Amino acid sequence: MTQDELKQLVGQAAADYVNANVPEGAVIGVGTGSTANCFIDALAATKHRYRGAVSSSLATTTRLQSHGFKVLDLNEIDSLPVYVDGADEIDHSGAMIKGGGGALTREKIVASVSDVFVCIADTTKRVDVLGQFPLPVEVVPMARTAIGRRVTALGGVPVVRVTKDGAPFITDNGNEIIDIKGLKIGDPRALEAQINAWPGVVTVGLFAGRGANLCLLGTDTGVETIQYPRD
Ligand code: 5RP
Repeated sequence: MTQDELKQLVGQAAADYVNANVPEGAVIGVGTGSTANCFIDALAATKHRYRGAVSSSLATTTRLQSHGFKVLDLNEIDSLPVYVDGADEIDHSGAMIKGGGGALTREKIVASVSDVFVCIADTTKRVDVLGQFPLPVEVVPMARTAIGRRVTALGGVPVVRVTKDGAPFITDNGNEIIDIKGLKIGDPRALEAQINAWPGVVTVGLFAGRGANLCLLGTDTGVETIQYPRD
């Protein structure tokens, strides 16, 4: 199967999971990216079961609305039974690198409110040690260079994300992204806490403190369901 076919497979599997486990009238948390898009497309057939969705990016909001989903502000709701999103990497404990699409801050906020984080991914995303994929960090623009120095001291290589035109990539929140190359992340929770504490960091794309509860992993032989114990 191609990677696109695997994404469609897990998108459908996530829609089936949500339809089977989430009560009618609930609000669904929805992530960002090409795999999350497959989930949105698959869930559209049963959208009338749900009160609406909370979105993790402007791009996801547009896609949800194109299917007729009501998009709710997170401030309007008390709880989210489930959050479904892709990942750039996921390890054996359910810790992830996210933010390849630049939506890491809103993704982390919506995920933090959810009861169950369902990660949807294909086998290329599963790793033993996080860090082969550059680790995104959303930063307030005036802190870009100071944070870059801290990244270098940590042993990583800071690369400011740019658009196709070479201009700085600007997030939905008006900030920039530094992608950190060259890290082997042995202790994702500790690194998440360390980078979060740097002044000017809005969000680090390590999702370890609030990792996935479940991964629906697309493989050539079907969808594998992996559960992770969480405290
Ligand atoms: C966006 C993300 C995405 O979930 C991640 O980049 C995976 O994307 P895709 O499903 O397109 O491979 O974190 O900020």
